[in-house]
Amino acid sequence: MAFEFRYASLEDIDDILAIEVEAMSTPWTYSSYKEAIDSDHAFIVVATEENTIAAFAVFYLTVPEAELPDIVVERGHRGQGLGRLLMDYSLSQLKSKGVDTLFLEVRESNVAARSLYTRVGFEEIGKRKYFYSDPVEDAICMRLDIEI
Ligand SMILES: CC(C)(COP(=O)(O)OP(=O)(O)OC[C@H]1O[C@@H](n2cnc3c(N)ncnc32)[C@H](O)[C@@H]1OP(=O)(O)O)[C@@H](O)C(=O)NCCC(=O)NCCS
Repeated sequence: MAFEFRYASLEDIDDILAIEVEAMSTPWTYSSYKEAIDSDHAFIVVATEENTIAAFAVFYLTVPEAELPDIVVERGHRGQGLGRLLMDYSLSQLKSKGVDTLFLEVRESNVAARSLYTRVGFEEIGKRKYFYSDPVEDAICMRLDIEI
């Protein structure tokens, strides 16, 4: 598979939403993605295969820090290394914007996401009790020091 990586534009939101709604119990809305695309302090990276979006990740910036609030690989493309490739591309973008530390929260039971994050180099820095709803669950807080 040959994937390409680029920043999302407003025309991508419907495709991003379709992947998000299929994956998440409390999905983001159209307006949250629009806000991220319109903002100078956020960006969305999409991975495409033959011009079809296969994965995306959202980043909020407070340089030199950033947050990763949402990342999804379309179900049929999971477990093939695309999450890693998307993170690698995104980390190079973050670096070029002067970001040296990336934070995220993840459901304690989300083995796939925790594996991806650990593989990329994130470390656990704490836990937020009952952070998530539907179903209620603790969040694991993680941090990645990006070498600039
Ligand atoms: C989490 C997610 C983005 C991972 O994407 P992916 O493309 O499947 O991940 P990759 O194939 O790049 O795998 C990355 C690493 O995680 C591991 N991994 C992936 N899925 C796994 C699973 N189900 N169980 C255990 N390990 C897993 C891989 O083995 C790989 O490690 P390795 O390089 O040592 O072999 C994807 O599963 C997803 O979209 N899940 C639903 C949305 C979600 O939960 N997002 C995160 C919210 S915080």
